Amino acid sequence: MPGAIHAEGLVKTFGDVRALDGVDLDVPEGTVLGLLGPNGAGKTTTVRVLTTLLRPDSGRAVVAGLDVLKQPNEVRRSIGLSGQFAAVDEYLTGRENLQMVGQLYQMSGRAAKARAVELLERFNLTDAADRPTKTYSGGMRRRLDLAAALVVSPPVMFMDEPTTGLDPRNRQQLWEVIQELVAGGTTLLLTTQYLEEADHLAHDICVVDHGKVIARGTSDQLKQRTGGERVEVVVHRPDEIEPARSVLAGFGKGEVAVETHTRRLTVPVAGGAKLLAEVIRELDGRGVEIDDIGLRRPTLDDVFISLTGHAAETGAAPEDGEADESGEDPRTRKETDQ
Ligand SMILES: Nc1ncnc2c1ncn2[C@@H]1O[C@H](COP(=O)(O)OP(=O)(O)OP(=O)(O)O)[C@@H](O)[C@H]1O
Ligand SMILES: [Mg+2]
Repeated sequence: MPGAIHAEGLVKTFGDVRALDGVDLDVPEGTVLGLLGPNGAGKTTTVRVLTTLLRPDSGRAVVAGLDVLKQPNEVRRSIGLSGQFAAVDEYLTGRENLQMVGQLYQMSGRAAKARAVELLERFNLTDAADRPTKTYSGGMRRRLDLAAALVVSPPVMFMDEPTTGLDPRNRQQLWEVIQELVAGGTTLLLTTQYLEEADHLAHDICVVDHGKVIARGTSDQLKQRTGGERVEVVVHRPDEIEPARSVLAGFGKGEVAVETHTRRLTVPVAGGAKLLAEVIRELDGRGVEIDDIGLRRPTLDDVFISLTGHAAETGAAPEDGEADESGEDPRTRKETDQ
């Protein structure tokens, strides 16, 4: 039996760009699928097709038992969507936005009001509830948008980068909300650039790149595929990165990943603790001062790098302003207006 979300051979081109190049997905009811991939991989396009906002050139999709192409209106009534860019009415207050959504879904005025109060509380927006949303910070808008997606409890939810731009506390709270939803039977497709988030929330993960699913499995299965242990070294000075890189290249069985700003180098190895001792001796012999060194299991970041050839772009401030329209680094933004 196909899952609550099922897609086969989705293709979508924009001019020369093949945004989707034959995407197949299946999300069993009551589970979370994490869609991971670098910028431009086709994540948002997938979400837009599955939520009836975009017609694919070919392929088919069924959501909540309904054909996305043949029954778009019915599909829309069965799903909730929180897009990559918050879609709230700037001139309405937070409370009014939520009540309006409730009324669009034919809730009674009273029920819509009560639901708005509940969601404002849950997303830490009670204090700002009666201000027009144009005065909200980026993180507040995002939370309001997520709250709007939860006004009715649809059986299938789509969230496109739900926690991008949220501070750690709000991210944690959203994770809790998501876990409650899923425990209650909701099926969720979520895209994220935060691999820790996928690790934490997703039952299954699909990695997409250039419009194709390039790997799928549970987080543990993907980590196993990426191989065994890594040696991770933090050198004391920036000019020690290069000599350390050449030492690690000699021991590794894969490419040395370097994170310049933290002076951290990582390489996959086979050989365990004995090899670690040799690496330390060799680094010492070259006069490289070590701040930290250790063996560790692969993370989902390692999986991502080995599959797509580069890191997910969460370590640095957004470069193209796409992930965050304000251009600010979301990790340092303070919501002083709350
Ligand atoms: N409306 C459009 N017109 C033209 N090209 C588009 C359009 N929408 C998407 N694309 C292109 O399709 C490709 C996939 O875009 P998509 O938005 O699905 O990526 P994404 O995986 O969501 O990326 P990000 O992580 O940056 O959000 C990109 O090359 C993008 O430029
Ligand atoms: Mg996107």
